[in-house]
Amino acid sequence: MKQLQEKILTDGKVLSESVLKVDSFLNHQIDPLLMQEIGDEFAGRFGKEAITKILTIESSGIAPAVMLGLKLGVPVVFARKRKSLTLIDQLYTASVHSFTKNETNEISVSKDFIKSDDVVLIIDDFLANGQAVLGLVDIVEQADAALAGAGIVIEKGFQTGGSMIRERGIRVESLAIISSMANGKVEFHQEVPTV
Ligand code: G4P
Repeated sequence: MKQLQEKILTDGKVLSESVLKVDSFLNHQIDPLLMQEIGDEFAGRFGKEAITKILTIESSGIAPAVMLGLKLGVPVVFARKRKSLTLIDQLYTASVHSFTKNETNEISVSKDFIKSDDVVLIIDDFLANGQAVLGLVDIVEQADAALAGAGIVIEKGFQTGGSMIRERGIRVESLAIISSMANGKVEFHQEVPTV
């Protein structure tokens, strides 16, 4: 997605060979117009899939997921990393280890919001080692729901998550795939086959 690649080049900051700071438009401050375009782009790619629910994880997946939910007219559910005071329902839970942050979170989603007749699309901001997406896939499987695929805003193609998820036969659509951040310079992959 051209606008996103341009935004990464103009506003992203390469912190190291593996970490990109995009908190001026995605991870802290949010650019609503860009999010709207991202929602439209995901809708174009997954629009034929009869999606009934979008599933993401707090916090930075929520903005693009909501824009897509608005476009498709379907609800957005976000997995919580901490149990909320009111989250007293029956829960699906999965363990998500972050290699980047070296911490493990138990994520949870109320059983009220994903049912076996749902067609779920997973949305997340970053795909690095794939652990967050795998945790969300686990929850979709626990619910016995159908999985339409995963829509990712920025995939770090030099890390293993994308190939691992695609090898499981899951359709992954990433709007920008970074092939390298060597020498402080972001390079993009051309779009890759989705499965
Ligand atoms: P994984 O889920 O693909 O295995 O990713 P990983 O453990 O490496 O990443 C954990 C967290 O770090 C996620 O955010 C992810 O979005 C973020 N992250 C990974 N690589 C980058 C990067 O290069 N730049 C930025 N800005 N973030 C990165 P999170 O902990 O869930 O945070 P948030 O959603 O609350 O913002």
